[in-house]
Amino acid sequence: MKIVVIGGTGLIGSKVVNILPQNGHQAIAAAPGTGVDTISGKGLPEALEGAEVVVDVSNSPSFETDAAMAFFKTAGENISAAEAKAGVKHHVALSVVGAQKLQDSGYSRAKLAQESMIKASPIPYTLVRATQFFEFIRGIAQSSTEGDTVRLSDAPFQPMAAEDVAAAVARAALGAPVNGTLEVAGPEILRIDEAVAKVLDADRDPRKVVTDPEARYFGVRLDNLSLLPDGNARQGAITLGWWMANVPPPRQK
Ligand SMILES: NC(=O)c1ccc[n+]([C@@H]2O[C@H](COP(=O)([O-])OP(=O)(O)OC[C@H]3O[C@@H](n4cnc5c(N)ncnc54)[C@H](OP(=O)(O)O)[C@@H]3O)[C@@H](O)[C@H]2O)c1
Repeated sequence: MKIVVIGGTGLIGSKVVNILPQNGHQAIAAAPGTGVDTISGKGLPEALEGAEVVVDVSNSPSFETDAAMAFFKTAGENISAAEAKAGVKHHVALSVVGAQKLQDSGYSRAKLAQESMIKASPIPYTLVRATQFFEFIRGIAQSSTEGDTVRLSDAPFQPMAAEDVAAAVARAALGAPVNGTLEVAGPEILRIDEAVAKVLDADRDPRKVVTDPEARYFGVRLDNLSLLPDGNARQGAITLGWWMANVPPPRQK
């Protein structure tokens, strides 16, 4: 079966593209770098020709509210129209656990808009909602940094490894469309402030984490449920401790 992975050169997409052929399928990475642009539409009809499944794990190059909303809306319209023409039978997309609870964040509003478009499209679909990737913990630190201080809430979250996210997305792509949402999460519930402090410590990053329950997370005041999945989430196996010991930090560009 031909499976097109939009965003197939990204963190999750490149792992999905590696997993799928292990099952005898053909996986095509579709991204600007491989000649497919979901915003201009360039290369999209050609890439989707003969595809049974489309996996969308692309991301907006900017997380700014208007830019993210424009990205997910335009890409969603172009992908849905190209899928209808190509006769695609299953659309799989990756979204964020708790997006509906984080609507003070413009990025979360854009992800919810993406989800709504997928649900309204005639193409059968599976939405996979994941919690924060371990790889994103450094991004959380960055967004909450002032000088040498990282001010963070002590709210619980259940982050997971990109490897486990990719496995969940690949599993969804090979299954039948559920026309609904599956949630995936990490194996442990952690506190955001403590998890960020651990990663900064391992990175020998001199910034100090300060706990402040009022600190905003991308503009959102968190409560004890904001970032947690519902009770039915499938759990990944990789712990934060294993990930920190085994996955080297990305090289500085
Ligand atoms: N970060 C988290 O903790 C988290 C949690 C849950 C869900 N998610 C979701 O996971 C998804 C994937 O995230 P990621 O971290 O893997 O993203 P990423 O590493 O930033 O990769 C983004 C991918 O999108 C591609 N892309 C950008 N503009 C495109 C366009 N116009 N047309 C086609 N492809 C385009 C990029 O291609 P180029 O490299 O060529 O630009 C790249 O392959 C996102 O939708 C995000 O909302 C993230």
